[in-house]
Amino acid sequence: ETISPVLITQRPFDSKSATVISSQRSSSLTKNPNDSSINVPVDDVEIPTVDFTMLFSDDLDKRSRALEHINQVCKDFGAFYLVNHGVSDSMLEGVFKGLSDFFNPREIEDRIKQYEKKNPTDKIRWGVNSTHGENREYLKVIAHPQCHCPTKPASFSETMEEYFKTMRRIVHGLGKAISNAMGFEECYIEKAFNLDSGFDICSMNLYPPNFRSKSSMGLPNHTDPGFFVSLIQDVNGGLQILSHKGEWIDVNMPPNAIFINLGDHLEILTNGKYKSTLHRVVVGNNEVKRISVATLHGPSSDSFVCPAPEFVDEHHPPSYRGMTYKQSLETNGAVEIDAQSSLEQTR
Ligand code: SIN
Ligand code: FE2
Repeated sequence: ETISPVLITQRPFDSKSATVISSQRSSSLTKNPNDSSINVPVDDVEIPTVDFTMLFSDDLDKRSRALEHINQVCKDFGAFYLVNHGVSDSMLEGVFKGLSDFFNPREIEDRIKQYEKKNPTDKIRWGVNSTHGENREYLKVIAHPQCHCPTKPASFSETMEEYFKTMRRIVHGLGKAISNAMGFEECYIEKAFNLDSGFDICSMNLYPPNFRSKSSMGLPNHTDPGFFVSLIQDVNGGLQILSHKGEWIDVNMPPNAIFINLGDHLEILTNGKYKSTLHRVVVGNNEVKRISVATLHGPSSDSFVCPAPEFVDEHHPPSYRGMTYKQSLETNGAVEIDAQSSLEQTR
């Protein structure tokens, strides 16, 4: 058995024997996806919704309830739908339009010529994943501190740069809110991860129509490194998370929500109090193509991340070894084409 260089103790659940639960959105949320989430209970089946604006409400009572809610959500679920996040519908549409053009099936020869078989450390990488006999096409770029993006199709790189810039507001915002929610000053995570220089990697995926891999696995079980991952998709279908109770739950986002999935380095920092979420993409026989944009928002590459003293005591000895974010990405191959999480090998 391989022991990850990061994780010392193992998690108790066995993901292979987990059952699948299909999440049905409650009718009230379907009617109004921007409804304030603070009264929505955290149950086993529904991925909770977090209203970004409530986390910063001037109404202190509303704000403290929203912080309590996100604290509970992070502990129990490690994932949520973010609404009222300030990323405009037109920006999201622009991103999907740009990617749809980038992944134009008629221009695959150009992509092969221009991007295939480059070094794993390249700042822009493209490929077709065939490990499991499937044909997920992906484009992986460094998004922050510097943004790297293909210059074709026209204005694609500008669109993506704008999107990545907008996402940084959410990174800082969630950094503050989650710090507060954990009972610390708002700059706690900001300092621990040196978020100003945070290292963001973006994976953009195309699952073509009638995509059916041998294993039906578009992307095998994994967690993602970093503080958290933000994910947008043009259609629902395929992405599942493993709840902390051990059930696979479909990600069924309200329109234009952003899916937030906590990453391994928040788990390491909090010594396992907030867990990163195991997820996968299961594809049956989808009739339409699906595009997803998963941005891994990490600490700065030279941040040394280990369990913080605030989360360690005689009953909670450190469960993870510390290392810099860069080392951890290198060790676990997350900068390679097919991202493996820092914790994955232990499951
Ligand atoms: C997805 O395509 O929905 C998942 C992407 C990821 O887990 O990185
Ligand atoms: Fe992922």
